[in-house]
Amino acid sequence: MSTLGIAVIGAGKMGADHARRIGRTVGGARVVAVADPDGDRAKEVAAGLEGAGAHTDAAAALAAPGVEAVLIASPGPAHEEAIGLALARGLPVLCEKPLTPDPAGALRVLEAEQRLGRRLVQVGFMRRHDAEYEELKGLLDAGGIGRPLFLHCRHRNAASPSFFTSDMLISDSVVHEVDAARWLLGQEVTAVSVFSPAPSAAAPEGLRDPRFVLLETSGGALVDVEIFVNCGFGYEVRCEAVGEGGSAEIGGGTAMAVRSAGRRSEAIAQDFTVRFADAYDRQLRRWVAAAAQGGVAGPDAWDGYAAAAVCEAGLKAAHTGVRTAVELVERPALYR
Ligand code: NAI
Repeated sequence: MSTLGIAVIGAGKMGADHARRIGRTVGGARVVAVADPDGDRAKEVAAGLEGAGAHTDAAAALAAPGVEAVLIASPGPAHEEAIGLALARGLPVLCEKPLTPDPAGALRVLEAEQRLGRRLVQVGFMRRHDAEYEELKGLLDAGGIGRPLFLHCRHRNAASPSFFTSDMLISDSVVHEVDAARWLLGQEVTAVSVFSPAPSAAAPEGLRDPRFVLLETSGGALVDVEIFVNCGFGYEVRCEAVGEGGSAEIGGGTAMAVRSAGRRSEAIAQDFTVRFADAYDRQLRRWVAAAAQGGVAGPDAWDGYAAAAVCEAGLKAAHTGVRTAVELVERPALYR
């Protein structure tokens, strides 16, 4: 059976996790090259994968024999350059979110794809591949709770990594809700407001955590997001949709409930790689199948651009305290 040769760019937490999944749980693909400027990391990840070579730069990895598709899991500011290298070779790409840190970079990706005349870039908004999100999307599309009025979203991490900044609560975390809301509702986000209550005592010095973000959409719905990255108790992503004819909620936890010593308890996932494990696998399987045909199977570069534009407006709203409109360019024909 022929397998798709993949170059993994960035061998940190996500790159290593994706590479392991490709090696173990995703059929029809194999990692043939791993690149990271930290050569030891590249070697460590490649060592666990038969036939994979380690490189310290993306260009060398993409030029390695057998590379047919590219998975980018470097930090956001490095994405655009790696995408450019992949598109120059006509290779399909799965790029971790954010596509680029700002909409200007994302527009350059859209332009490059339009010059090629096809969509080759998929963005790693994995919630679209999560079974609970898919069920909610199916319900909304079928009109099961009528016209959606609200999405109430909660996004909580046990603790933030040391490099996390107040801006990243929006650009790295709420970006997931931005994409999920656009997808669930089939609408664009038109304006963003950001509120910052007194920081939690558990937040590192100077970090505005938690924050509350309000998105307005082109269809007149409101999406509120509580983002709280040092909640202490675990990783939790919930979404309640309220429509004219009912409501539906996902993410409430489906773990085994234990009754013991006069208490009822259930475990809470501590990390996104646990909560969204199936979604990451499904995302990879679908992408591998589509990439083998030279296409994408999920959120594309337009979705990455739209999310970046919303986050840019969100950062402006956070810095100024003023509700900020989202400006999008006209959607090019390739993405309609
Ligand atoms: P990380 O810091 O653990 O790993 C990043 C790796 O990229 C490091 O090993 C670093 O040396 C390497 N790197 C830096 N510059 C590079 C370059 N120019 N070329 C190749 N490699 C380079 O970060 P993490 O958490 O793995 O995040 C990577 C990406 O995944 C980010 O875009 C992040 O936003 C995204 N992410 C997505 C999540 C999801 O649920 N979809 C969850 C967490 C992160």
